[in-house]
Amino acid sequence: MSILKDKRILLGVTGSIAAYKAAELASTMTQAGAHVDVILTRAAEQFISPLTFQSLTGRKVYTDSELWGGESHILHVGLGHAADLLLIAPITANTIAKLAQGQANDLLSITALAAQCPILIAPAMDIGMYENPATQENVRLLKERDILFAGPAQGRMASGLEGLGRMVEPNEIIGQTRKILGKSGDLAGKKIIITAGGTQEAIDPVRFITNRSSGKQGYALAQAAIDAGAEVTLISTPTALKAPVGVSFLLAESAEEMLNAVLTESADADVLIMAAAVADFRPAKIAEKKLKKRDGIPQITLEPAPDILKHLSSQKSGASRPSLVVGFAAESRDLLSNAAEKLKSKKLDLIVANDISAKDAGFNVENNRVILLYADGQKEKLSLQSKYKISKTILKRVASMLNKEKVFNTGLLSIAKTEK
Ligand code: PMT
Repeated sequence: MSILKDKRILLGVTGSIAAYKAAELASTMTQAGAHVDVILTRAAEQFISPLTFQSLTGRKVYTDSELWGGESHILHVGLGHAADLLLIAPITANTIAKLAQGQANDLLSITALAAQCPILIAPAMDIGMYENPATQENVRLLKERDILFAGPAQGRMASGLEGLGRMVEPNEIIGQTRKILGKSGDLAGKKIIITAGGTQEAIDPVRFITNRSSGKQGYALAQAAIDAGAEVTLISTPTALKAPVGVSFLLAESAEEMLNAVLTESADADVLIMAAAVADFRPAKIAEKKLKKRDGIPQITLEPAPDILKHLSSQKSGASRPSLVVGFAAESRDLLSNAAEKLKSKKLDLIVANDISAKDAGFNVENNRVILLYADGQKEKLSLQSKYKISKTILKRVASMLNKEKVFNTGLLSIAKTEK
């Protein structure tokens, strides 16, 4: 979450039982390196104490008692001007109404009125209050004024009733925060398609052929691209992972489905990154009914699965190709020569070569160790590090290539005569 490092987050907390979740927000953001200043309303103080936030953030917590203190006349301006983001979570119907009407009668509402930074709010209120026409009108007004909303969610309220009005979970709010903070990043305004996971090639209605890809590398790329300000479409096979907040998500099970999704999305994309492990072979025929044991061992004939990158690079396909295409190579031998051959035959701008024979990198682990091979023959080695960090470097290089800048000047590998 390096996007949060050294960012100044002003966290407003209002009087709702969801205030306890604000403590988790303050803690997670502080651990990620953000400077979190908290403002509690009088009602919030009934639910949670300033000491809780002071202990979690290591910083002074502001309450209404400060409003009439020594630095009162500038405090709200100072807080609002210094912040990268004003996040109010939870925000009650009352504070939403105050913001909509421009009321300024406590430290939080005065600060919000003076704030120069983006404002993100996470409503929390009991059943009926959010859908009440008065609240809806206030919500409409705030949206019109570019106030950003996280939720609310549908679900069980503290009252025991079910409905729309629950505060969304902290990880959703943090996801939205990342998207807002990344907005002016290196890839702002660029559409990036990222594929992830191992395709599933059906044998019959219950069985399929797949591979060891967990999707972790592709999902890390998607998160890093959001953090860099891109508009991200994540085309993924079924995985155990949660899609990063802010991506537009498309599910594709087989190579064929992934091909169709990539072709559709490529029409207006700037970049395609194929991190998915797409099948090279698939059963030539899919049995309509489940194959039965009593019928003996089935003979499964394989045929080539569509090669998505080759399809895109072929002149005949007529498919529009993003300006920049990045592939991955998963190799268990002759890493560099095999990757270089794929770079050329698939007409890529960059290929990320992973040695999948290593236990600590590649498939289904948190880290990766890769070599980047560029179309102009340059090579760059990235040592063992998290898949998110690897992704950040790849995307930095992608941004440089899009801007036609010199690609890199560190980590250059001399052209290796021997493999690995
Ligand atoms: O998902 P993880 O567990 O995090 O693991 C990450 C990873 C090892 C899967 C990933 O980093 C990786 O290497 N992905 C590519 C795996 C792969 O399919 O490599 P390949 O060498 O078979 O294919 C080369 C390139 O062609 C890839 O970009 C692939 O997406 C693409 N391809 C492959 C086959 C095919 N039919 N169509 C394709 O477009």
